Amino acid sequence: MSRAAVLAGIGSCLPPRAVSNAELAPALDSSDAWIRSRTGVRRRHVADPGTATSDLAVGAGARALKSSGEPQADAVLVATTTPDHPCPATAPAVASRLGLGGVAAYDVSAVCTGFVYALATAAGLIAARAADRVLVIGAETFTSILDPTDRSTAVIFGDGAGAVVLRAGEPDEPGALGPFDLGSDGEGQDLITVPAGGSRQRLSGVPATAAEHCFRMAGKEVFWRAVRRMARSGRTVLDRAGWSPADVDRLVSHQANARIIQHLADDLGIPRDRSVSDIAEVGNTAAASIPLALDRAHADGVLRAGDRVLLTAFGGGLTWGSTVLTWPRLERA
Ligand code: ACO
Repeated sequence: MSRAAVLAGIGSCLPPRAVSNAELAPALDSSDAWIRSRTGVRRRHVADPGTATSDLAVGAGARALKSSGEPQADAVLVATTTPDHPCPATAPAVASRLGLGGVAAYDVSAVCTGFVYALATAAGLIAARAADRVLVIGAETFTSILDPTDRSTAVIFGDGAGAVVLRAGEPDEPGALGPFDLGSDGEGQDLITVPAGGSRQRLSGVPATAAEHCFRMAGKEVFWRAVRRMARSGRTVLDRAGWSPADVDRLVSHQANARIIQHLADDLGIPRDRSVSDIAEVGNTAAASIPLALDRAHADGVLRAGDRVLLTAFGGGLTWGSTVLTWPRLERA
């Protein structure tokens, strides 16, 4: 009998400081009205210097473990674009700080698709009997890589972390994840990138400029690709699951832009009011966006036990991925 990965706990962590559009707009020759109408973002949480991605990941992970009713996991995956360091990975430090002992711990790098990739990886660990319980965290201090003068990115992104605990279970029980669809298109690697800091643009005695260490995104070029890739991937998992769009109670997509979320629902044939969105409050938090949206929707009673949920994400790479689950009964830490 194949073992499924079953959602058993959820939690999140936002840095306390919220920054409104009105605070950001003047220095960027922008306005609250432009940012709200073009992106849906009203405010975002920003980690102060001294707060690293692992700090947010530990906060979210501790809450997810508490919500699962057991403070144990035998693997920790951290999906992030903004690790504490280029080396080592962030996950081992998170596992240690959570008191999880010598468990397997590694990062998953797929930008905004990272959390869905990490869910699939965790499901694989469970299916292979390499782990019985996996803590999967999406965590970002995305504002640490933004160019504060680039108005096309500085107004969109925010910081935060969300986490889930997956346990071994049966494929037909509430909370069981899958099927999955994952994909990539490296031809589009330059559309979403941080140019410096890796082996392509090496340390050569000529330091990279500060701007080359910052995140860049060709927003216009990426917009429709995000809609179409998530729609195609979402349809693929619905087909594999034997669900129709009408069966989906809640669509939880990567929170890239409120207009992308609306077009995606239209393309999938899912009523817009079934989309879950917290982008107004937290912005685009990259790998943290889906678990943050899930935790908020669960806390607010928007996601209820028995709801059939479609998760779909798109991000740098380019990458995309989707999965489905029936929402289980969960405690909230
Ligand atoms: N304030 C005011 N004006 C602005 C701002 C701003 N913050 N940003 C851009 N503009 C201006 C532009 O300069 C341009 O002016 P022009 O017409 O005089 O040249 C005008 O607004 C329109 O610019 P667009 O780039 O066409 O704006 P658009 O409506 O496309 O919004 C945005 C830009 C928000 C970046 C959008 O394209 C987007 O969300 N793209 C997709 C993001 C995405 O899906 N990313 C992938 C996932 S995230 C990840 O992987 C990390």
